[in-house]
Amino acid sequence: MARKKISLIGGGQIGGVLAQLCALRELGDVVLFDIVEGLPQGKMLDIAEVGPVDRYDVNLKGTNSYEDIKDSDVVIVTAGLPRKPGMSRDDLIEVNSKIMTTVAEGIKTYAPNSIIIVISNPLDAMVTLCQKITGFPYSRVIGQAGVLDSARFATFIAWELGVSVKDVTAMTLGGHGDDMVPLVRYASVNGIPVVELLEQKYGAEKGKEVMEAMVKRTRGAGGEVVALLKTGSAFYSPASSAIAMAESILKDQKRVLPACCFLQGEFGVDGYYVGVPAVLGEKGVENIIQFKLDAEEQAMMDKSVAAVKGLVDSMK
Ligand code: APR
Repeated sequence: MARKKISLIGGGQIGGVLAQLCALRELGDVVLFDIVEGLPQGKMLDIAEVGPVDRYDVNLKGTNSYEDIKDSDVVIVTAGLPRKPGMSRDDLIEVNSKIMTTVAEGIKTYAPNSIIIVISNPLDAMVTLCQKITGFPYSRVIGQAGVLDSARFATFIAWELGVSVKDVTAMTLGGHGDDMVPLVRYASVNGIPVVELLEQKYGAEKGKEVMEAMVKRTRGAGGEVVALLKTGSAFYSPASSAIAMAESILKDQKRVLPACCFLQGEFGVDGYYVGVPAVLGEKGVENIIQFKLDAEEQAMMDKSVAAVKGLVDSMK
């Protein structure tokens, strides 16, 4: 089997962690691209020089030239500004749209057969723009948001219940904004509903309040990190989340991961990118898993989708 190639567009905070994770897991050869001269070269030299310690052996290259992304299997895009305290993701749309336009053109020209995972914010709008400019099939342009939002939700549940994060499953759907939809009904500890465990612990009414607080914290979790860091946004967690998606694609694992996918009727949405559970394999999004939402969940989904539509339509 030929060795895989992963290109990372944007060599900032997330880009650097992405490169290190690709190396640590030996996912393939890695190219880190940035417009800042020396930055991607320096980071890749730094990561390469510790191969003998961490015992990875892949080719790592930093570059300012799109030509180097040629023949990439997967391209992960983090180019763009992160938010500062007090900003919403949507405040980044103008500046990051310009950046995404040049990035997507570069990928279209030099890596026309790649599968793209977008991380840049505002996510739902940036992935939409990236697909539009590349003209790639929808299945090959995906956004990362749901893996991270779901992981944040699961983390808070594990802390609340005093159980290992390894045994909690939780999922969020919808846009990557303040109206995202953490699926309360399906959150579980090894299959046991979290709602039931909270009710045992606190009684029905207080249990519900505790869950609502976790939902609220999940929706604002990115902002919570921004407020603490002050100079940028979360970077370890978005990088790990995108790597889970990339690994499923590169190794054709067919994992079911919440991802920002183009919907054509699924969940009552037509013509927009929204977070839903998807099967990720060598062809990119190979299937979108549908299931019935109850009235409350559907109402939250509709609200989240309305926010995505407002944002995406503002780019037109
Ligand atoms: N082409 C390539 N890279 C670019 C371009 C461009 N046109 N414009 C800016 N960049 C690079 C910057 O030079 C910087 O190195 O993008 C990188 C962004 O890195 P950071 O500022 O450290 O931001 P990061 O924390 O990595 O977040 C990147 O992901 O989660 C989102 O909201 C976040 O939009 C932000 C993006």
